[in-house]
Amino acid sequence: MEWKILYLDQRDVDALGAQDMAAALTDVENAMSLGEKGDAIHPIKGVMEWDPDRYGPANRINSMPGYLGGSYQMAGIKWIGSNPQNVANGFPRASALTILNDPETKLPLCILDGTAISAVRTGASGGVGIRYLAKETAQTLVLIGAGAQSRTQLEAATLVRPSLKQCYVADILPERAAAFARDMTGTVSFPVQAVPMEALKDYCQRADIIISATVSATPILDADWLNPGVLYIQIGGYECTYDAVWKADKRVVDEWLHVIHRKATTIAFLYADGLLHDADVYADLGEICNGKKPGRENDQEIIYYNPVGMGNEDIAIATRLYRKAKAEGVGLWLNYWY
Ligand SMILES: NC(=O)c1ccc[n+]([C@@H]2O[C@H](COP(=O)([O-])OP(=O)(O)OC[C@H]3O[C@@H](n4cnc5c(N)ncnc54)[C@H](O)[C@@H]3O)[C@@H](O)[C@H]2O)c1
Repeated sequence: MEWKILYLDQRDVDALGAQDMAAALTDVENAMSLGEKGDAIHPIKGVMEWDPDRYGPANRINSMPGYLGGSYQMAGIKWIGSNPQNVANGFPRASALTILNDPETKLPLCILDGTAISAVRTGASGGVGIRYLAKETAQTLVLIGAGAQSRTQLEAATLVRPSLKQCYVADILPERAAAFARDMTGTVSFPVQAVPMEALKDYCQRADIIISATVSATPILDADWLNPGVLYIQIGGYECTYDAVWKADKRVVDEWLHVIHRKATTIAFLYADGLLHDADVYADLGEICNGKKPGRENDQEIIYYNPVGMGNEDIAIATRLYRKAKAEGVGLWLNYWY
């Protein structure tokens, strides 16, 4: 029996709508919801890091398999490498390949560039968090870190909170914050302003939503940066102090088992140190999406949300693009089996 695989490169996935944040928000929420209902499988991600003294933080290759039921009916895996030094050489920090497999035969169906999908789904994961956990009237967004993830975080935030009126961005490299502000002003309907790291605490204290997406290995944000009503989303690793996590009235994650196994974010370090227990985590976001627990209940709550990302979110988006590619005749068919 002959078998062919569809190959979709970076241009194909872009043309098929990889950057469509509204669709990604739906896919990511669906993935979280199916996971919570038990209509999905998402094994713990495999993390491969070596020689940290030579390569520094965020140098790794992760494998993220999964299966999604519902309308997706698809299995697959995201294989994503990361090296922060790539940016200086014109490559993205993170580069991903995703493989989709038929859930019946288990045969591979599609190999596609997963880089844009990965950044968009991380933005969407923040966006679903904002949908349920931020104040309805949120006006001020502060971004810590001006990299690839902050762009998609901003994009998702604008879609789920049209009430936003300003965004401030800071980066340890001020030129990155300036470039971010320049690039993003005009793509959203409100001003995006670069601010110095030294002034960040002051901006955070006035924020409705704070998102940190850096490769920092030491805390940037402390408890007194969080005022009543704020939603703080931690996308990167050890970006806030233990006290900041404790200050929250609700601690929400994408999936707690994945967070503690990944052991890369502040809340996971607290757990590993025996200082925080399962009962201190309010919910997996899927429980809130599925209406099993309320999200934000008033404008005074301080909420901490830490999504570490799951392969199923990538598989959901990749499935949409694969089906569209087949319908529209996009991509290159490769011989696999003769
Ligand atoms: N949670 C998830 O699902 C998920 C998914 C993808 C990436 N990530 C994480 O998000 C983080 C950002 O990823 P990216 O692709 O945007 O990386 P990037 O390299 O494009 O951007 C990171 C930015 O952080 C800045 N930075 C580093 N240290 C800082 C500090 N102390 N203070 C302020 N800024 C600082 C850098 O200068 C850079 O501009 C990484 O830690 C990555 O592992 C998380």
